[in-house]
Amino acid sequence: MSDHAGLWTDYKEKKKNRNSVCLGKICISGAEKTDTIVKNAVDELKKGLMAMVGLEPEIVYEDHTVNSSTVCSSGREILDSEEYRISIKDNSLIIEGKSPSAILYGVFDILRTVACEKEVEKSYAEGKTVRPSDPLRMLNHWDNMDGSIERGYSGDSFFYENDEIIINERTRDYARLIASVGINGVVINNVNVKSAASYMITDRYFDKLAQLGEIFAGYGIGLYLSLNYASTIEIGGLDSADPLDEKVIEWWKIKMAEVFKMIPALKGFLVKADSEGRPGPFTYGRTQADGANMLADIVKEYGGIIIWRCFVYNCRQDWRDKKTDRARAGYDNFMPMDGDYHDNVILQIKNGPMDFQIREPVSPLLGGLRKTNQMLEVQIAQEYTGHQIDVCYLIPEFKEILAFKTYCREQDDTVADIVSGKTFGSRYSGIAAVTNTGNDFNWTGNYLAGANLFGFGRLAFDNDLSAEQIAEEFIRMSISADDGVVSEIKDILLPSREIYERYTCPLGIGWMVKPATHYGCSVDGYEYDRWGTYHRADHFGLGVDRSDKGTGYALQYNEPNASIYNSPEKCPDELVLFFHHLPYTHVLHSGKTVIQHIYDAHFEGYDEAVRLSEKWDSLKGKLDDEIFENVKERFALQLENAREWCDQVNSYFFRISAIPDEKGRQIY
Ligand code: GCU
Repeated sequence: MSDHAGLWTDYKEKKKNRNSVCLGKICISGAEKTDTIVKNAVDELKKGLMAMVGLEPEIVYEDHTVNSSTVCSSGREILDSEEYRISIKDNSLIIEGKSPSAILYGVFDILRTVACEKEVEKSYAEGKTVRPSDPLRMLNHWDNMDGSIERGYSGDSFFYENDEIIINERTRDYARLIASVGINGVVINNVNVKSAASYMITDRYFDKLAQLGEIFAGYGIGLYLSLNYASTIEIGGLDSADPLDEKVIEWWKIKMAEVFKMIPALKGFLVKADSEGRPGPFTYGRTQADGANMLADIVKEYGGIIIWRCFVYNCRQDWRDKKTDRARAGYDNFMPMDGDYHDNVILQIKNGPMDFQIREPVSPLLGGLRKTNQMLEVQIAQEYTGHQIDVCYLIPEFKEILAFKTYCREQDDTVADIVSGKTFGSRYSGIAAVTNTGNDFNWTGNYLAGANLFGFGRLAFDNDLSAEQIAEEFIRMSISADDGVVSEIKDILLPSREIYERYTCPLGIGWMVKPATHYGCSVDGYEYDRWGTYHRADHFGLGVDRSDKGTGYALQYNEPNASIYNSPEKCPDELVLFFHHLPYTHVLHSGKTVIQHIYDAHFEGYDEAVRLSEKWDSLKGKLDDEIFENVKERFALQLENAREWCDQVNSYFFRISAIPDEKGRQIY
């Protein structure tokens, strides 16, 4: 293991060896021992058990029925093949699965059990069967080939440097790290495919990509690339990227044949088209479906898939125009073509209609689209949620999103049901996160941000895990197994998202960030709203009217959600300014007026951030000094940030509303 493994696959700590009798002999059933994934799994098992309990298990194999060439051509088949079962027989542990990946996940389950100091015999006495919730569990890297990372907060890329692909020990450690939490797909380059990245699909990079794909495949992880939609122009020498142009289609056919031959492990592509300056089919008067289907038809013969993002909107639109609404864009652009997308296209939908704000409603495309493969996209890179400086444990938010009832049918209608493929029997579905890793020794900059990477994987694998269970596992595996420490850190992580929300954007209004970086407060600052008008704040009130009297966005939801969001009385407080323009004196369900809520939330949010930081301070000497100092340094910055947000937001709304704080606190 290299020095860079870190976090939960760094089995350096000796664990209490409780009831480990059945760890002495481990039987693997259902997969060939010569398979690379199985070999890696066994290697992991031996390495982990030796480091944690000083024991080298005897491994036996039985019932060799499948191997890694098992081809899964649908989400259901992926789920069947990745299910594992762990049981105990004659004092030995049995790991059964229908594929090598299932065995790998079973191995990591056992290692987690030992690392969390749970009793092995008790954990598996009744037999434990785990079937992943979502067929595709992916990470999206926004890494650029010069080594920078768009929205990266933990060092440079470990995939690229100076336009070259890096393959070293850290590459394998990364594969181990993410496989251990169940990730089975990785997009390794930024969705904004510019300069050298456009050449990823040329012979300049084929060898390295083939190697990378093989390493990932050894851990059950599929390799995906972001594609420049206008490659025909950028690198192909054509003057068009029109998806219906024969020359364009012919170029892609030749290109894809070459790419899939040269990178055998490649599984498909992610495409950002017609958004924020990226090219796309709209340029040629074609639909998003025309663009996606053209590519999908071509990659189909190689078993490839096209993941097409729904983040399509006009970033130059005039936010002063009260009928124009960016929130509507995803639905307006994609709903009319529901059913037109071919079966190896997946639409990837950001969790909210805007852009990963601390609080947004769930996108109405989820539960709107019924005849199209869908994937949920969340962001664990903390772009708008504190840059991995501020602690913001996002798993509670992801749980809320997955539990959201879309009312697209009578049952099995939550986002979790949709993205698991259950609701509509989709051919492909799943969940992707814009990832938060970089070259920092601990992968995520702030040690506590590791909880979001770990947690995303665990949750995607098992939607039923609670945010608390996940936090507990993360802490025990990577920080400390001491019950007192575990409980204190859980008390820091679990409320951290709501605390961040309190000292930043109130009641779903969003944005208010410094332009470009998106860290720190600037009430009128967001760059795409250069007039500072998105919040519609004036002397009397604030918020955006997205009801039927305003932009009509609320009506994009199924009933009863549409009626709930459409009414300021029924709309939940935390989203009320997202959907309605209200006077400062409007009384919320909480009994507070809007303006008093703003003051209270900001003062309290700051105070709570101080309490989190004091809690961390109380852990000095109880955990590794490096981890302690790493987080302590960031807490100091978080408090400055929280203070600045509190002061700026409160003074802005005090000045504009001229309504004083009823508790008489000083507003600067
Ligand atoms: C946000 C982010 C961009 C990113 C974009 C996307 O707007 O600020 O950096 O490119 O999302 O998701 O494509």
